[in-house]
Amino acid sequence: RTKWSGLIEAYRSFLPVSDQTPVVTLHEGNTPLIPAYSLSERVGRGVKVYVKYDGLNPTGSFKDRGMTMAISKAKEDGAKAVICASTGNTSAAASAYAVRAGLKAFVLIPDGYVALGKLAQALLYGAEVIAIDGNFDDCFNLVRDIAHKYPVTLVNSVNPYRLEGQKTAAFEVVDQLGDAPDWLCIPVGNAGNISAYWMGFCQYHQHQKCEKLPRMMGFQAVGSAPIVEGHPVKSPNTVATAIRIGNPANWKRALAVEDASQGEFNAVTDEEILEAYRILAREEGVFCEPASAASVAGLLKVKDQIPNNATVVCVLTGNGLKDPQSAIDHAQAQVKAGVASELESVAQVMGF
Ligand code: F0G
Repeated sequence: RTKWSGLIEAYRSFLPVSDQTPVVTLHEGNTPLIPAYSLSERVGRGVKVYVKYDGLNPTGSFKDRGMTMAISKAKEDGAKAVICASTGNTSAAASAYAVRAGLKAFVLIPDGYVALGKLAQALLYGAEVIAIDGNFDDCFNLVRDIAHKYPVTLVNSVNPYRLEGQKTAAFEVVDQLGDAPDWLCIPVGNAGNISAYWMGFCQYHQHQKCEKLPRMMGFQAVGSAPIVEGHPVKSPNTVATAIRIGNPANWKRALAVEDASQGEFNAVTDEEILEAYRILAREEGVFCEPASAASVAGLLKVKDQIPNNATVVCVLTGNGLKDPQSAIDHAQAQVKAGVASELESVAQVMGF
């Protein structure tokens, strides 16, 4: 057993780094691929479902994979500051890795639409958090212009190093399964991650590390489904604030992935997302944030299309602790409060 010291060291030969690159890492990656017995049973017909629990990364989301690369390269290139637009997770990751690299981080967020845990992270890491009176797409347009005009490096997923880092999740899935899955279900916002996974699978395939290539199944939320609808959405909305995006930065790439993998984009309703969120927690013991549950909502929505005995991986992009308010609001369970501090009262509440 070798010591894990982050994905750049683990997959160095597949990444655009050299001996000159200062590796900025929090030892991200190497997240578990967990068999999902209840979901497998719900799909039936011998289908095996796994979840790739990327919420176990150091800042609690898959963004750490992209950020270790983007920040290492920014440091190598002599940057002094980085900037991103974010629905929350990118800002948490950028802030943390910027600290490690000794860079200043600026983050633009849509005012009122970032989950509590993510906001808490960016603030505690010491980033400059700027809340914009607008949505993610407005924030993104602003940071693009700012990075063009001022000496700050843009670390959104249009930064090519982001996808290079994120593609390692596909390597890990293959290393863990012994081959690529038949299907990969993944939530889609800016469509960076689906593009990165596809890059990773293709690269591993070229190196004979896997025999199969998966069908890439991308899922957007109904109120924020520009790729499914085929046009930008002006005022995107969904309970899954992480993917509340109306004009994805990697739209063209996403269509190419759909084409090359014979994949599909579909939309899932907030109700379906929340149901999958509860199923993951109550039947699998896995706590993810609502946006991540879109992959499982999608799986359950299109399950009849899955071939018998196929292997499916659902990507769980973010940790449930990121968004405690959603959990409390949608758990369909309540704290039994006001119980007296005596054995009899507790036993009665317990049903004994
Ligand atoms: N899941 C989570 C938890 C996310 O935070 C995001 C994106 C996605 C899925 C979608 O990934 O954009 O590559 O298609 N979050 C970005 C952010 C927008 O700012 O944290 P994508």
